[in-house]
Amino acid sequence: MGPHDAGRFITLEGIEGVGKSTNREFVVERLRSQGIDVVVTREPGGVPLAERIREILLAPDSTAPTADAELLLMFAARACHLEQLIRPALARGQWVVCDRFTDASYAYQGAGRGCGSEAVRTLEALVQKDFRPDLTLLLDADWDVSSARRAKRGTSDRFEQETRLFFETVRVEYLRRAALEPQRVSIVAAGRSLSEVQSELGQIIDRFVSRNFNKKI
Ligand code: TMP
Repeated sequence: MGPHDAGRFITLEGIEGVGKSTNREFVVERLRSQGIDVVVTREPGGVPLAERIREILLAPDSTAPTADAELLLMFAARACHLEQLIRPALARGQWVVCDRFTDASYAYQGAGRGCGSEAVRTLEALVQKDFRPDLTLLLDADWDVSSARRAKRGTSDRFEQETRLFFETVRVEYLRRAALEPQRVSIVAAGRSLSEVQSELGQIIDRFVSRNFNKKI
């Protein structure tokens, strides 16, 4: 039995515009093609109350919370999501692929908003206890690549309207965390062609599956 009884918890991270959605679909299909029962979800969100908190957090209007309130709302959403969706799915033996998780709180609120990593660590301990992702795929690209991709999309939420300095700070924190936990976090250079990115992602997923999934015959 593994750390979550049966299923495995995989998260995807990276600044906006690095191809997270496209590559999330690729990862999910790769897992399903090997017979794994996968639940796909996202943060902030995933369950009704957390999706309502997401609306508040992303609205590009004057309801913007202070930095600490933003951090607390992220963890309020996470607390619901974890108890109502993630833990039950893992306990049933399903694998969960989550678009962003607590590394994003370290990167965006801890570093980007300046709340500090100690504040994030305190809430992580409160809400998650020892719960951590089994594998995190960090799609990494510099601001020029990601902003060019973002510009092709229409509307932008409150985070997408942030400055270059903000995203560079977020990126540095993601990379710092990846360097601290290389066994959990795989950095995938996302500025390359989609086929190159997915070839590497495929290898990482296949290696992870071979270590974590015993096919039932
Ligand atoms: P996305 O679904 O486009 O990734 O949007 C979610 C936004 O929320 C994204 O800009 C990053 C931000 N975010 C945080 O700032 N902290 C967090 O803990 C999480 C999960 C997301």
